[in-house]
Amino acid sequence: MSVLELKNIYKSFGDTQVLRDVSFSVNKGDVVAIIGKSGAGKTTMLRIMNYLIPPDSGEVYFHNSKVILDRKVLRTVRSKIGFVFQRFNLIRHLTALDNVAIGLVKVKGLKWPQARELALKKLKEVDLANRVNHYPSQLSGGQQQRVGIARALAMEPDLILFDEPTSALDPSLVGEVMTVIKRLSASGITMVVVTHEMSFAKNIANRLVYMEEGQIIYDTTPEQFFLSNDKRVRHFLNDFLEAV
Ligand SMILES: Nc1ncnc2c1ncn2[C@@H]1O[C@H](COP(=O)(O)OP(=O)(O)OP(=O)(O)O)[C@@H](O)[C@H]1O
Ligand SMILES: [Mg+2]
Repeated sequence: MSVLELKNIYKSFGDTQVLRDVSFSVNKGDVVAIIGKSGAGKTTMLRIMNYLIPPDSGEVYFHNSKVILDRKVLRTVRSKIGFVFQRFNLIRHLTALDNVAIGLVKVKGLKWPQARELALKKLKEVDLANRVNHYPSQLSGGQQQRVGIARALAMEPDLILFDEPTSALDPSLVGEVMTVIKRLSASGITMVVVTHEMSFAKNIANRLVYMEEGQIIYDTTPEQFFLSNDKRVRHFLNDFLEAV
């Protein structure tokens, strides 16, 4: 069952063509890892998925209906697609609890007490029951990112998009965030994760998308990808291993 589909997407910024004929579809329960070099177009593709930016041409379908530049349509789509950012994007003057609750109030129209009750539940799911009244500046990067995940979860989205959720973190904090993402993937939540964590791509994702210069080169199983003899893939993996 298709949750989201991109059809023949093209996108340029000025003279730079960033996406070239990208077609891709996410089905319910999929855990997709997107990998590729810096500048390949991964973030741009993710942003087009929830229409944070519109494509130049091509179509986006959410549950088989076409997404258009209409306020009401976009509001619905965005309330059902969670986004977890590389740099957390928490609101500095709100506690962890209210960072999670505010979307429920603003987007879903819940009253604050009800929103906070649900937010507390979601913070428990990311192992942060003991940090609810802390402000972002009082939390570690790993904790802030888990608040970001709780915020996405609270909206009960049909799909969560993660853009390199651990790459801004100190290596010692990657594990706690990955543990949470792994748990979510096991619970059946549909997700697309742009990542440099090869262990995630290898062991947790059921699909692996490899991008190069604005195109999807591979959309396959992790097993097939890591066994591939394709020169481009071997180069990417070798460079990657050297960099680690
Ligand atoms: N708003 C923008 N204006 C101009 N150019 C942009 C913009 N956003 C992205 N680009 C360019 O588009 C290309 C693809 O960028 P994108 O952020 O999608 O790559 P990426 O694969 O996510 O890379 P990274 O791994 O470094 O995050 C890059 O060359 C980038 O400079
Ligand atoms: Mg990126």
